[in-house]
Amino acid sequence: MNKVKVGILGLGRWGMCHLEAFSALGQAEVVAICDRSPERLEQAGKTYGIERLYSDENELLQDASIDLISVVTFESQHLEPTLKALQYGKHVLVEKPVTTRPEEALKMQAAAAASGRLILPGHLLRFDPRYAAIKDAIQSNQIGTPVSMYMKRSRERYLFETFKRVHTVFELMIHDIDLAIWYAGSRVVKVKAYGRTLSGATSPEVLWANLEFENGAIAVLHSNWLTPDKAGIEIADAIEVIGLSGIAHFETSQSGLHIWNGEGRQTPDMNIHVKLHGATVGSLREQLTYICRCIASGEDPAVISFADAVHGIEVANAIVASCETGCEVMVGKME
Ligand SMILES: NC(=O)c1ccc[n+]([C@@H]2O[C@H](COP(=O)([O-])OP(=O)(O)OC[C@H]3O[C@@H](n4cnc5c(N)ncnc54)[C@H](O)[C@@H]3O)[C@@H](O)[C@H]2O)c1
Repeated sequence: MNKVKVGILGLGRWGMCHLEAFSALGQAEVVAICDRSPERLEQAGKTYGIERLYSDENELLQDASIDLISVVTFESQHLEPTLKALQYGKHVLVEKPVTTRPEEALKMQAAAAASGRLILPGHLLRFDPRYAAIKDAIQSNQIGTPVSMYMKRSRERYLFETFKRVHTVFELMIHDIDLAIWYAGSRVVKVKAYGRTLSGATSPEVLWANLEFENGAIAVLHSNWLTPDKAGIEIADAIEVIGLSGIAHFETSQSGLHIWNGEGRQTPDMNIHVKLHGATVGSLREQLTYICRCIASGEDPAVISFADAVHGIEVANAIVASCETGCEVMVGKME
């Protein structure tokens, strides 16, 4: 099978993870990278032996040798490079949130359909074995059709300083919105949400949202940036899905790896993107492997759904509106 030629736009914290994970895959070759920061670009090029280094995104997007562009730039600026990449005949992996605006998500979807190329939202939790196993338990009737879902996502306080640049719904809760839509197999019709800010930032440090689905399922999503930095708990997430015939559940901070030493207790993430034996493991790698396999073989990437991502952005905007107005918001009916 031919290697998929990859170009990466944006070499920040997460773009470097893309670079590391793609570089470790036998099915992919990173042929070009782009960032506005010359130092970052040069350093990454040297570390991974990449020769084509671009500081202008247009040069990357026009590079004829590239099959797949990863868009890993700021949350609210994914539209333009995605449209251009599709126009130049590339498949596009767009990091989450695919955008913060529903009309942009629809434009991306239409452009992909017109170009005949794949547009793949970066919802990597569909490739985390624990979340994927819950989907499987729904489909195989181990737990059956979801009736009630609860999903929590907690991150350390220091991260809020960076990620308050967009509303918490786009940075954290968007993962759970995507999972809830995937599990329910239905569309959200109504939301009621509550945001609380402690620092005065526009984005809330604590966000709760109730979702009602067309098929009657309900969900409560809770995201926060309030884990004390010194607690040493990188990820404190939880999920419970109650189906018609059973319940699936896990909580991340009690299980998994704990390291106790003079610094206290550390509970590092071992599921998303981890370096082990000089290679990378985790759900990012699983997602990229699947994407490369589908591109190389022509297989339909059925695990991934841009239509779900578009709906997720609609739901996220309804959550923002509900926080602002204090009212229930009907999804798709906002002015
Ligand atoms: N799937 C996940 O679990 C996950 C995890 C972390 C971040 N993300 C997402 O990844 C994206 C990037 O996040 P991050 O934390 O890496 O951000 P970041 O601020 O660390 O990095 C963004 C990088 O993009 C570069 N950049 C921006 N616009 C550019 C342009 N037009 N041309 C060239 N370079 C440009 C900046 O110089 C910077 O290096 C966001 O959408 C974020 O939500 C996803």
